[in-house]
Amino acid sequence: MHFTKTAALAGLVGLASAQTYTDCNPTTNTSCPSDVGLDKSSYSVDFTAGESSDWTLSSESATYSSSTGAALTITKSGDAPTLISNFYIFFGRVSVMMRASPGTGIVSSVVLESDDLDEVDWEWIGGEDNQVQTDYFGKGNTTAYDRGTIVNLDAATQSTFRNWTLVWTEAETNWYFDGSLIRTLTYADALNGKNYPQTPMRVKVGSWAGGDSSNAEGTIEWAGGETDYSDGPFTMYVESIEIENYNPGGSYTYGDMTGDYSSIVIGASTDNSTDASSSDTTSTTSAKTSTKTSSTKTKTSAVSAASSATSVSGSSANASSNSSASASAASNGTASTSSTSSSTSIASVSGATTVISCSSIWAATALLAAAIFNL
Ligand SMILES: *[C@@H]1O[C@H](CO)[C@@H](O)[C@H](O)[C@H]1NC(C)=O
Ligand SMILES: *[C@@H]1O[C@H](CO)[C@@H](O)[C@H](O)[C@H]1NC(C)=O
Ligand SMILES: *[C@@H]1O[C@H](CO)[C@@H](O)[C@H](O)[C@H]1NC(C)=O
Ligand SMILES: *[C@@H]1O[C@H](CO)[C@@H](O)[C@H](O)[C@H]1NC(C)=O
Ligand SMILES: *[C@@H]1O[C@H](CO)[C@@H](O)[C@H](O)[C@H]1NC(C)=O
Ligand SMILES: *[C@@H]1O[C@H](CO)[C@@H](O)[C@H](O)[C@H]1NC(C)=O
Ligand SMILES: *[C@@H]1O[C@H](CO)[C@@H](O)[C@H](O)[C@H]1NC(C)=O
Repeated sequence: MHFTKTAALAGLVGLASAQTYTDCNPTTNTSCPSDVGLDKSSYSVDFTAGESSDWTLSSESATYSSSTGAALTITKSGDAPTLISNFYIFFGRVSVMMRASPGTGIVSSVVLESDDLDEVDWEWIGGEDNQVQTDYFGKGNTTAYDRGTIVNLDAATQSTFRNWTLVWTEAETNWYFDGSLIRTLTYADALNGKNYPQTPMRVKVGSWAGGDSSNAEGTIEWAGGETDYSDGPFTMYVESIEIENYNPGGSYTYGDMTGDYSSIVIGASTDNSTDASSSDTTSTTSAKTSTKTSSTKTKTSAVSAASSATSVSGSSANASSNSSASASAASNGTASTSSTSSSTSIASVSGATTVISCSSIWAATALLAAAIFNL
C-alpha cells in the first residue's frame, strides 16, 4: 500500500506542479498588482441568507437555502464548484461552518492560498465521513514529505454542520475542529519559516472530483477511488464563514521578492467599496483596478506598516502574544501535536482518536486542488 502510494507519487508531483497556477507570482515578478485587502478586522457571511457578492463562484452554480446555506454540487465530470473570497487577509482566523460532501472520490476543501502559492488547507475525502486531512505549503514547494496529516474523528463530517477553524499567525497555524485543537504548525517547524505560509491569502471553499477517471492514478487512489457520477449528485453545504483579519488593509503589496511576511506592505484603503460588507462585484473590480494603478502611492503611504513589520524576522510581540493565546485555547481538554519533521505522530482530541500520518502525496494533491480552484 505504502509502496503503491510512493510509486504513484512521482507522477503526481509532476502533474500538480505543472498545473499550479497563480495570476502573478510576486516572488518571480516585481510587477504584480497589489492584492485587494479586507479592510476590517471582523467579517462574516451567512449563506443561509443567500448569495454574497463578496465571494465569486469559480464555475457552475450554487443554490442557497435558509436551512443549509450554500449548496455546492458536483453532478458531472469537470465540476468543481468553489466560492472564492474577493479579498485577501493577512494572518487571521477563518471559521467555516460546513458539511463535507459524500461520494467516492469527491474531495471537499477549505483552502487559504496566496499569490506566491503559500497555502493552508482542510480536505475531506467523500468516502471517509469521520475524517479530515490538514495540509500546508510554503511558496508552492511540494518536495517535503511531512506536511499532510490525516485526523480520524469520532464525529460525522457529512451529516452535521461542523466548525472548521484555522488560526493563522506569523508564529504558528492552528487547525481547530469544533473548538478542539487538532494540529499546530509553528513557523520554525516549516523549514525554519522558509516553507511557512505567510503571505496574504484568499479563502477558497469548494469541492472537486479527485476520483475523476481522467486524474492520475495516485490522485484517484488518494481520493478513495474512482467517482461514479451516477451515484450523485454530490453536495457540500457551507452555512457560514467568519473571518478575523489580524492586519486589515485596503491593499497588500509584496515589498520585495522574498515572500516573507515582513516584506508585505499594508496599504490604506484605496476605495471605500473594498469594505467587504458593502462591496458588490462591480465595485470590487474597480477597487482592484484602482489598487493596481495606484500601487506606487499605496507603497508610499504604507511605509510605516512596512518598517514596523521589519522587526518581526526573528520573534515579535505579535508572535509571542499569539502563541500564548492559542496555548490557552488548547487547554480545554485537547492535546495538540506540535508538528515536527517526523513523518508520523499521534494526537488525541477530546472523544476522538487522531492518527496523523504523512506523505507528500497529499501535499501534491492539495496543490492540484488549488490549481483547479484557480479556474
Ligand atoms: C509580470 O506581471 C505583469 C503584471 O501582471 C505582467 O504584465 C507581466 O507579463 C509579468 N511578467 C512576466 C515575466 O511574467
Ligand atoms: C522545499 O522543501 C524541502 C523540504 O522541506 C527543502 O529541503 C527544500 O530546500 C525546499 N526548497 C526550497 C526552494 O525552499
Ligand atoms: C468556531 O470555532 C471558533 C474557535 O475554534 C470560534 O471562535 C467561533 O466562534 C466558532 N464559530 C461558530 C459559528 O460557532
Ligand atoms: C472613505 O474612506 C475614507 C478614509 O477611510 C473616509 O475618510 C471617508 O469618510 C470614507 N467615505 C465614505 C463615503 O465612507
Ligand atoms: C503586529 O501587530 C500590530 C498590532 O499589535 C500590527 O499593527 C502589525 O501590523 C502586526 N504585524 C504583523 C506583521 O502582523
Ligand atoms: C493574535 O491572536 C488574537 C486571537 O487569538 C487576535 O485577536 C490578535 O489580533 C492576533 N494578533 C496578531 C498580530 O496576529
Ligand atoms: C470545552 O470542551 C467541551 C467539550 O469537550 C465543550 O463542551 C466546551 O464548550 C468547551 N469549552 C470551551 C470554552 O471551549
